[in-house]
Amino acid sequence: MVSPISILPVRWPLATTMLALLILVACHPDVAEGVETNRRTPAETRRPSAAANGRIRKKRTESMVFYMHDIPGATAAVVAQQKGNQSSTLGLTFVFDDKLTEGPHPDSTEIGRGQGMYTVASLGNGLPALFLTFTAVMHRPSLYDGSTICLQGSDRTFLKEREIAIVGGTGRFRLARGYAILSTITFKASTGAAIIKFNLTMTLPPHP
Ligand SMILES: *[C@@H]1O[C@H](CO)[C@@H](O)[C@H](O)[C@H]1NC(C)=O
Ligand SMILES: *[C@@H]1O[C@H](CO)[C@@H](O)[C@H](O)[C@H]1NC(C)=O
Repeated sequence: MVSPISILPVRWPLATTMLALLILVACHPDVAEGVETNRRTPAETRRPSAAANGRIRKKRTESMVFYMHDIPGATAAVVAQQKGNQSSTLGLTFVFDDKLTEGPHPDSTEIGRGQGMYTVASLGNGLPALFLTFTAVMHRPSLYDGSTICLQGSDRTFLKEREIAIVGGTGRFRLARGYAILSTITFKASTGAAIIKFNLTMTLPPHP
C-alpha cells in the first residue's frame, strides 16, 4: 500500500521551509509597504464601488399600451368546439392573428400583431372567462421590430378590467416579467368583434 506522504518528491528540512515562508511573507505587497499601508484611511483603502465601475446596472421597467382588434371570421378562426347539445360554450377555441394598434381606432397605426389563441374556459351562459395565450410580435417603433412579448392568463371578459401575466419575451423583451391590464373598448355581440386595450408593465434586465 502506498502512503500519500511517500508520493511527495522531497520532504524539505524544517529550516528550509521556515526560510521560504519568511521570504514569501516579506514579499507580500502589504508587508513591503510596511507602516504606510496601516496609515491609509478606510476611504482610501475601500475599493471603488461596483456601481461606480458600471458593473452593476439596474433593471429597466417598461410600459406600453396597445389595442388589439379581434374580428371572428376575419382575424380569428374557430378551431375547436363542443359537439351535441351543451348549455355552455366551454372549450370553444379560436386561433387569431389580430392587428395591434397604437390607438383605439381601427385605422390607428399598426405596431404589431397579436398571434395566439383563446379558449372558453368557464361554464355558464354569461360572458365567458377565456384562457388567453398569445405572442405580441412587434413591428414598431423600429427599436422593437422583430421583438416579441409572451402573454398568458385568464381574460374574464365580464370584468371591466382584468390582469394577465407577461411571462417572457425575445429580442428587446428578453427575460421580460410583468403584467398587462386588459379592458374592452368595444364589443359587438352580433359578430363577437372586439377592441381590447392592453396596458403592459414589465421589468427587463439591464441593457446588454
Ligand atoms: C338541449 O337541451 C335542453 C335541456 O337541457 C332542451 O331544452 C333543448 O331542447 C335541447 N336542444 C336541442 C337542440 O336538442
Ligand atoms: C397603465 O397602467 C398603469 C398601472 O399599471 C397606470 O399607472 C397607467 O396610468 C396606465 N396607463 C394607461 C394609458 O392606461
